Amino acid sequence: MKDTLEALRQSALGELTETRDTRELEGLRVDYLGKKGKITTILKQMGSLGAEERPVIGALANSVRADIENALEARRSELEAAALTQRLLHEKLDVTAPGKKIEPGRRHPMSIVLDEARDIFISMGFTIAEGPEVELSLYDFDKLNIPPNHIVREWSDTFYITQDEAVHLRCQTSPVQVRYMETHRPPIRIISPGRVYRRDEVDASHSPMFHQIEGLVVDRGITLGDLKGTLNALVGRIYGADTKTRFRPHHFPFTEPSCEVDVQCVSCGGAGCRVCKGEGWLELLGAGMVHPKVLAGVGIDPDVYSGFAFGIGADRMTMLRYDIDDLRLLFENDLRFLRQFA
Ligand code: PHE
Repeated sequence: MKDTLEALRQSALGELTETRDTRELEGLRVDYLGKKGKITTILKQMGSLGAEERPVIGALANSVRADIENALEARRSELEAAALTQRLLHEKLDVTAPGKKIEPGRRHPMSIVLDEARDIFISMGFTIAEGPEVELSLYDFDKLNIPPNHIVREWSDTFYITQDEAVHLRCQTSPVQVRYMETHRPPIRIISPGRVYRRDEVDASHSPMFHQIEGLVVDRGITLGDLKGTLNALVGRIYGADTKTRFRPHHFPFTEPSCEVDVQCVSCGGAGCRVCKGEGWLELLGAGMVHPKVLAGVGIDPDVYSGFAFGIGADRMTMLRYDIDDLRLLFENDLRFLRQFA
């Protein structure tokens, strides 16, 4: 047993000098001094020794263990120091190297125009209302006087959420009119910008998701003249004071009379070009006087109150503002495009 212990001392000290890192060192420690280690195993056999031999071997075993422990500690310090030196060599910090430039974000052109429109309406006394994008057909269709067989109710036009056609992704911001009128009494003056969804294929002028700014004014004695004045003020401030508008008769189930509003082509000034397809005019929004049925439906007496409403194509408005000829550019997040807008 004495010889075995001596041999273990020699082999342990020898192997120690060959360890290359603290993990190997730990392996070695377990190998000799661990619960099932070589030294421990010997100590467990001490019981079989005679009374004279036992203290002698015991003392020897303790000295072997102490030697190995001390050598382990010394080697650990050595290895740690070497590792630190290595790290310091590799992690040289060049304080003269130029820093990494962090580019500040900038506003999306849509956000710029939307913020501008918000400011303009707020300056005219409007407040901002919000409505859900996942909407009840009750609000997006029924309460807007859209008949049961109307084309927008087709599955090919609308993203239904429920099989019974009760819930869908709103196809216009107009349901916010109804929601607001159900909880507020006149005078009402709101806009409601937001996303709308229609099952259109993506191309230069269509996207299944786009943006509208709904507007609603209800009070005593509101006329079509107020609608024209308000929209002309908006167009003048966004596109320049002498930009002309054109109010064309149209049909919407929830306004009567209804119109669509065009602005004189910002590209050619009305002469006719590629952007306006030779028309000289570009369609910007739909509008009209709130239908008496819609007012009555929310408990506002149409004999006492009248109102106008409009729905601006916000993407359209942005494209016209910056002469952008492809709607997809607004949604693709190509930095080369977005960097152009301050
Ligand atoms: N909601 C209509 C559309 O999406 C626009 C509109 C809004 C028309 C308000 C009249 C009044 O085409």
